[in-house]
Amino acid sequence: MRKLAAGNWKMNGTRASLSEVKAINAELDDTDPAVVICPPVSLLIPACDIGGKIGIGAQDCHMASSGAHTGDISANQIADTGATYVIIGHSERRTDHGETSDMIKAKAQAAHKAGLIAIVCIGETLAEREAGETLNVLGQQMSGSIPDVATSQNTVIAYEPIWAIGTGLVPTLDQIDEAHRFMRAELLTTLGADAQNISLLYGGSVKGSNADDIFSVADVDGALVGGASLSAHDFVPIIKALSRA
Ligand code: 13P
Repeated sequence: MRKLAAGNWKMNGTRASLSEVKAINAELDDTDPAVVICPPVSLLIPACDIGGKIGIGAQDCHMASSGAHTGDISANQIADTGATYVIIGHSERRTDHGETSDMIKAKAQAAHKAGLIAIVCIGETLAEREAGETLNVLGQQMSGSIPDVATSQNTVIAYEPIWAIGTGLVPTLDQIDEAHRFMRAELLTTLGADAQNISLLYGGSVKGSNADDIFSVADVDGALVGGASLSAHDFVPIIKALSRA
């Protein structure tokens, strides 16, 4: 598995938004890469019911398989909706809910146990980048959050610089290249040759207008897209750019 265009709807969308999933589906053909949309949990079942080429994912799961965890959802419950992916450790979860790398690893393990593909997110703050700490931070987040048994079949890694999320700021292609090369090398060291097949996504202010450039970077296999994944009008050009890459 390599090329993947993933949309993270975050806390956006109601049933009316399912028309966008249908519209995206209608634009896809056999030459397009894998596409996944991660809507809010309220839309998982109806989004899965749409069928077609688009895979559906959740945005978080609990590390336990069941129990007294009010308001949470387990990986088993996500799998039961028909969804096949789950985003784990998004920086908004790390910030809003105090999620640590240990918790994220446990969640990724729960996702794997339930047969879901975990999209594990990592990324530095602006202060960390300016302090020259980016690769150290990415290395720590990777070793802390990615289970030892991760494979190209059950894990995708998304590099999302926190300062690029929702800001319109995008790292230079050299900065993206440096981060993705580093990630690939680390994964090859820890997981062996199969790491060559793990999809490495870039996320943070990806749009139709910058997608071709971003996808030209060697170890960028796709994107994790926030705002521009909410409509077919904005997301389809990103998918088509990935097809061309
Ligand atoms: P934006 O594409 O809105 O910057 O969001 C990126 C993101 O956080 C995807 O998970």
